[in-house]
Amino acid sequence: MEVKISTLFTQDEVEKRIQEMADALSEKYKGGELKLIGILKGSVFFLTELSKRMTIPVTMDFISVSSYGNGTHSSGMLLLNKDLDDPIEGQDVVIVEDILDTGRTLSYIMDLFAKRKPKSLEIVTLLDKPSRRLVEVKLLMSGFVIEDKFVIGYGLDYAQNYRNLPYIGVIE
Ligand code: IMP
Ligand code: MG
Repeated sequence: MEVKISTLFTQDEVEKRIQEMADALSEKYKGGELKLIGILKGSVFFLTELSKRMTIPVTMDFISVSSYGNGTHSSGMLLLNKDLDDPIEGQDVVIVEDILDTGRTLSYIMDLFAKRKPKSLEIVTLLDKPSRRLVEVKLLMSGFVIEDKFVIGYGLDYAQNYRNLPYIGVIE
């Protein structure tokens, strides 16, 4: 099947925005150390670009959750595939996510992590689709607010494909 992809944000636009977000995080947590937690696999591309641009000491850890279903829609049931390697108690923690859609994934992870008593817990996401929200989630920062479109690239997949596109696109 021939697939046509149109560009929503170019690589330049994405990386300029990531630089701004990295600067804001370095400023906010200045004098401290920050643990970035990536949600596998979508956030990996954003997390690496973000962390490379930060000027404070950063550590990172990863969690993997999946919602049942593999297409453009998820069922809402979540499965914890891989937990963090290390405790987060007493630490400044920022969860890094590719996209906030219904909010189910991030609210599940926020509840899970809040019980572990981090010093602080915030969320940064590259994209935010507020029109699709079913569960309220409080963000520290988002890269871009977008309409209800299914996007791919920069870590975002359609049935596990297209994560490695260096820009953010929409399947026509
Ligand atoms: P939520 O739990 O509905 O907020 O969905 C979060 C997850 O759904 C993200 O981590 C993505 O993996 C996936 N997702 C939501 N919208 C899109 C999209 O437009 N493109 C690719 N994946 C998406
Ligand atoms: Mg995903």
